Amino acid sequence: MRVLITGGAGFIGANFVHQTVADYPDARVTVLDKLTYAGNPASLADVTDRVALVEGDIADADVVDPLVRDSDVVVHFAAESHNDNSLNDPSPFVTTNLIGTFTLLEAVRRHGVRYHHISTDEVYGDLELDDPAKFTEQTPYNPSSPYSSTKAGSDLLVRAWVRSFGVEATISNCSNNYGPYQHIEKFIPRQITNLIDGVRPKLYGAGQNVRDWIHVRDHNTAVWRIIEQGRTGETYLIGADGEKNNKEVVELILELMGHDPHDYEHVADRPGHDLRYAIDNTRLREELGWEPQFKDFRSGLEDTIAWYRDNESWWRPQKAAVEAKYAAQGQ
Ligand code: NAD
Ligand code: TYD
Repeated sequence: MRVLITGGAGFIGANFVHQTVADYPDARVTVLDKLTYAGNPASLADVTDRVALVEGDIADADVVDPLVRDSDVVVHFAAESHNDNSLNDPSPFVTTNLIGTFTLLEAVRRHGVRYHHISTDEVYGDLELDDPAKFTEQTPYNPSSPYSSTKAGSDLLVRAWVRSFGVEATISNCSNNYGPYQHIEKFIPRQITNLIDGVRPKLYGAGQNVRDWIHVRDHNTAVWRIIEQGRTGETYLIGADGEKNNKEVVELILELMGHDPHDYEHVADRPGHDLRYAIDNTRLREELGWEPQFKDFRSGLEDTIAWYRDNESWWRPQKAAVEAKYAAQGQ
């Protein structure tokens, strides 16, 4: 099986590459990644004997076409993925998330290659804190930010290419991931690395916003399950019943790292900040028999903290620039 993984040098993609190499010894893995600020070849350093890394842009049809032609399945992770960046400069979000996905879809259409599209629950907008409802595959799209709206647009392109051109595609929309290799601009690794540096964690606004946390390995086992057993043209929501507000997460990080759980600071809130995300994973469980393995957030977080402590050389080069960017916007 020849697997083309876009964005394989990013957080979830790199974890997916590692899992694929481990679980599919016969797979021939190619990664297509532009190596933006978020892509790090060091994340693939221990699998270079099994993985071909091609540096290139998913929006460049000349690069994409031969790679897709020589694949049996394309798993599309590459994206501009950070909400805060999308508020500062939406432009690369439009190019990568929309034009990039379009370029891949045209290539899989030309060559009749199976395609799996990685997306986010943020396409559904947000829920009230006291709403008993969760997102389902039937929830109408209602994205809030340039990030989530370009991801929503990319999902709709996939649906149209399935219906109009018979492309053999599936889509998954997952909740917030945590685990190793996550860029330190994101919430959990930012706070862990701040504490390693003796800096207090930073909570946007009051910290009441809820995210539905899933360990990245559980996300990726679900993706493989969908690729192997999912129905063409269908969407599957991926989540592991991990709702927590940001204040609870910061307090747990502080406690696990040996600090007073209340020793954090409130900083400027994100404009348009989505209140709550929550996934109903019934379809994934009942249709495909998937179950998460990392059911204990506390121990998953402990492992993640240990990973950042043990891999300082992986994140250290980025830290000063990330914090300078946040400081400039009062965060
Ligand atoms: P990331 O930002 O860590 O990695 C993105 C990768 O894509 C990087 O390696 C980057 O170099 C690459 N890339 C960016 N633009 C590119 C381009 N034009 N051409 C080729 N490569 C390019 O992102 P992530 O958190 O690993 O997210 C991966 C996917 O999962 C995204 O599609 C995202 O929308 C989705 N997702 C993320 C989460 C989450 O919690 N992080 C949750 C649900 C869905
Ligand atoms: P983030 O990791 O950016 O993911 P997303 O925007 O996709 O949910 O942020 C997760 C939550 O944490 C979100 O509610 C914003 C909040 N947050 C903070 O409170 N402090 C921070 O330093 C960061 C980066 C995020």
